Amino acid sequence: MNKIIIAIDGYSACGKSSTAKAVAAALGYSYIDSGAMYRAVTLYFIQHYVSLDNEREISRALNNIEIEFRIPPGRTDGISETYLNGLNVEEEIRSMFVSDMVSDVSKIPQVRRFLVAQQQKMGKKKGIVMDGRDIGTVVFPQAELKLFLTADINERARRRQAELLAKEQLVSLKEVIENLQKRDLIDTTRAESPLRKAEDAIEIDTTFVTFDEQVEIVLRKAYRKIMYAADEVSQ
Ligand code: CDP
Repeated sequence: MNKIIIAIDGYSACGKSSTAKAVAAALGYSYIDSGAMYRAVTLYFIQHYVSLDNEREISRALNNIEIEFRIPPGRTDGISETYLNGLNVEEEIRSMFVSDMVSDVSKIPQVRRFLVAQQQKMGKKKGIVMDGRDIGTVVFPQAELKLFLTADINERARRRQAELLAKEQLVSLKEVIENLQKRDLIDTTRAESPLRKAEDAIEIDTTFVTFDEQVEIVLRKAYRKIMYAADEVSQ
């Protein structure tokens, strides 16, 4: 069967990651959470007091960063987690202190170059679902299927608050909304590869759709693209 690349972009907390994960599992594709990579770099910068306006310090720090996605021992659902220099940082990178800083780190061109190169390598063999902000525009402009997810800000905040609560992090709705709005603003206005919908991306508003419906919509589009890719090869 022909393999394709699926790029899922959109604003913060629109359900990109959960959709991407489910779609990848259904297709037997690998799933890459590019946001987790920006979050891991941010965690390293916080831990090592890296100054965001010092290019030399940033380069030195990036040279010391290795990010991997691995299935941790004992996890039976096949879902991988984020490792920073050999340590599982999945919980820490989702915390509010990382969320507060991640968009400022993500606008640094050196950081983007460093991560985009790794992401492109991961997609060499196709059969991948990657979610983020610049996947359809910069990382994989040739992706066969591009989606752009949106949702109402209150719904997004409610979903994110529930996710945090499930991890025993109690954060007020107001704080979540402020964080999402702040990140959306930085992500859409930065000079280097800002968040925007690729011209050939399909926009899906997830406000009133259930999670299962959302996955179903994407899968239907993916199967069509996979069949189309197979037709093109056989011609
Ligand atoms: O899950 P959530 O929507 O909160 O965000 P994320 O996907 O974990 O991404 C966290 C942050 O990383 C975003 O707000 C962006 O600043 C940055 N990011 C980016 O710049 N480019 C990407 N491809 C992915 C994330």
